[in-house]
Amino acid sequence: MILVIFCAAFLVAHEQQKYAIQAPVEVVVAAAAIVLTEQQDLGKSIFKTNCASCHNRYKKAVGPALYGVTGRRDMEWIYTWIYNSADMIKSGDAQAVALYQEYKQSNMNAFPQLSKTDVDAILSWVELPK
Ligand code: HEC
Repeated sequence: MILVIFCAAFLVAHEQQKYAIQAPVEVVVAAAAIVLTEQQDLGKSIFKTNCASCHNRYKKAVGPALYGVTGRRDMEWIYTWIYNSADMIKSGDAQAVALYQEYKQSNMNAFPQLSKTDVDAILSWVELPK
C-alpha cells in the first residue's frame, strides 16, 4: 500500500514537472506565430479554395501577385473584376483590357457566388505584409 502511494506521488510530481517545463515553451511558440484575425483567417481559406491555383500573394503566377492590389485598383473595380472579369474586359474597361493582354489572354474564372464580405476577407489576408 505504501509503495502504491509512493509511486502515485512520484508520478504526480513527475507530471507536474513536465508541465512546468512545457508551459514557457508554449508561450514562446504562440508569441512567434502570426495571429490572424477572424476576417483574415476566413480570407485565407477562401483564397486557398478559389484563388491559389492561379494566384500567389507575393509572386506572379498564372495571374498577378495580389499583394498591393488595393493600392493600384479601386475597391469597386476589384469587386466587379472578381464577380466577372470577362464581362469587364468585354465592356472595354481600360485597366481590365490591359491586364488581360499582359497576361497573354488567360481567363480568370468568374466568382459571382462570393459576397463583398468574402472579397474583403480575401483582401485583408492578401494585403498582409510578407
Ligand atoms: C484560372 C486562374 C485564376 C483563378 C482561379 C483566379 N484568378 Fe485572378 N486572375 C487570373 C489572371 C490570368 C489574371 C490577369 C488578367 C487576366 O488575364 O484575366 C487575374 C487577375 C486578378 C486580379 C487583378 C489583379 C491586378 O493586378 O489588378 C484580381 C484582383 C484577381 N485576379 C483576384 C482573384 C481572386 C480573389 C481569386 C479567387 C476568388 C482569383 N483571382 C482566382 C487568373 C485567375
